Amino acid sequence: MSSLETERLLLRPASGEDASFFVTALADYEVSRQLSSVPYPYTEADADNFIETVTKARAMGEAWVFTILSKATATPVGCCGLHIKDGRYELGYWLAKPYWRRGFATEAARRVLAFAFGVVRADAVQAGWFHDNIASGRVLAKLGFVATHVESWPSRARGESALCNRTLLTREQFGRKKPLEAPAVRQLEPTALAS
Ligand SMILES: CC(C)(COP(=O)(O)OP(=O)(O)OC[C@H]1O[C@@H](n2cnc3c(N)ncnc32)[C@H](O)[C@@H]1OP(=O)(O)O)[C@@H](O)C(=O)NCCC(=O)NCCS
Repeated sequence: MSSLETERLLLRPASGEDASFFVTALADYEVSRQLSSVPYPYTEADADNFIETVTKARAMGEAWVFTILSKATATPVGCCGLHIKDGRYELGYWLAKPYWRRGFATEAARRVLAFAFGVVRADAVQAGWFHDNIASGRVLAKLGFVATHVESWPSRARGESALCNRTLLTREQFGRKKPLEAPAVRQLEPTALAS
């Protein structure tokens, strides 16, 4: 699998050389608490295990996980990838906290989605954001993801499940030349879980 590029970012397949960056970035609970399967605290063994797993999954055609680097500094800033979960494509991403609010997540995810629809030939990609993660809800809205439902979703770092807004983006929606204005997102109340 080759690397992907955007205006400001390089996305290269995650590999062993990224392990120390993963450990440093995911030591931050503000990052890991918004993710599903990342433990807290996060150790070198966790990083090695993750990289080994995604490397195998890539060879099997089950996951495509990229480390995001800033072209300006040639340093890693985050991670973005696609994997198959229960027969469906799922998008995931995170950035180390110093790199938040620069548009990097949206830029990286847009490139991974182009790869998903154009190379992997996914028909649709799903993603989710926890009820208290407005920034990620905003990223997905800007990318054109549409809300489908709310469900309880595991968060390993939190040690419990939390309400998660599930969303979907189809190939047709992604390919629209003029995407609709991204709708505003708001935090869910705990009572919002669909029965
Ligand atoms: C979610 C995350 C990836 C966003 O990364 P980012 O590079 O800062 O995202 P972008 O800059 O592309 O876009 C963020 C948007 O959310 C908005 N935003 C950020 N924090 C916000 C907040 N607290 N309240 C409201 N809006 C917020 C930004 O203004 C921006 O929207 P805009 O372009 O309309 O102004 C990053 O915060 C992160 O890594 N969080 C922890 C891990 C995580 O949540 N991963 C996603 C799991 S679903």
